[in-house]
Amino acid sequence: GLEIITEKDKMRKWSRSMRAKGKTIGLVPTMGYLHEGHISLIKEAQKHSDVIVVSIYVNPGQFSPSEDLSTYPSDFQGDLDKLKALPVNVVFHPYNLYDYGNSDIESKNNDPKSNDGSGGGGNDVVSCVEDSKLGHETWVRVERLEKGMCGKSRPVFFKGVATIVTKLFNIVEPDVAIFGKKDYQQWRIICRMVRDLDFAVTIIGSEIVREADGLAMSSRNVRLLPEERNKALSINRSLSRAKLTAQNGQISCRDLRDLVTQAILEAGGKIDYAEVCPALSSQILLLRLNPTMDSALTSSGNQEKPIFCPWGFLD
Ligand code: PAJ
Repeated sequence: GLEIITEKDKMRKWSRSMRAKGKTIGLVPTMGYLHEGHISLIKEAQKHSDVIVVSIYVNPGQFSPSEDLSTYPSDFQGDLDKLKALPVNVVFHPYNLYDYGNSDIESKNNDPKSNDGSGGGGNDVVSCVEDSKLGHETWVRVERLEKGMCGKSRPVFFKGVATIVTKLFNIVEPDVAIFGKKDYQQWRIICRMVRDLDFAVTIIGSEIVREADGLAMSSRNVRLLPEERNKALSINRSLSRAKLTAQNGQISCRDLRDLVTQAILEAGGKIDYAEVCPALSSQILLLRLNPTMDSALTSSGNQEKPIFCPWGFLD
């Protein structure tokens, strides 16, 4: 059966009892609102571990104040229904991972009864830029890799991710953790962090899962209006075309990038960045549409809040 754990001490105890039985533990970290992309990570985890923990936690530390923390989609009951059909042993669903329970805040904010399972967890915690108020001031930074590409327009994102993943590793103590290549920079940053800090965790990168029309699956896709979805489709379409072109002969990185940017601009998309950069042994191309797409802003009800469109990458 599927066990729901909300307390970090209980989570660690569970993992240690499994380890004592000689079982290896796989962790799939998520922010919930699960789709086939997340499910594929669980299937990948099955290949590498005896028991599987899926964490569902909307991490306030990786959202800047202008981003969509308060409107990030969530459906905990729906997530549970999906997970029940899968070989998942535990859903780790903490209410607030930045509350250390060392003051009277504890009884108010860390009360498991107040966690009705509907909020995705921790949504009312202020963003990490105000961390001094939370009694949390330690952040993991992967200094070079966090700066480029998505880091340029999302300055706190990767330090928030690296820090919460560190916390999850310390709480769950997994042998293996699975990350999607849809978030390519995130995956590479976690790999580097694990190597640099000697975490006893093996990181597995898992392939992108796409909708039938080619759009990379993402919890935020539900916000795309039809014309925005069309623009977003130009990411995968142009990358596939660039891949074919690259396979068919010599092409410079610059020409490859221009090919992709042109196709996206022609489709009416705005480009945040498109870069060709080295990854593992091959050249890859990363890009993301500009987050300030007009109607997406309207649909989130706040002119200030950008939404983030799925990326693509080219191996
Ligand atoms: P979230 O966006 O929920 O994604 C959880 C995991 O699912 C990530 O490793 C992501 O790369 C993977 N994933 C999402 N869509 C995918 C797709 N279409 N194909 C393959 N994998 C996909 O990424 C996060 O949450 C957070 O930053 C987190 C790592 C949980 C830290 O808070």
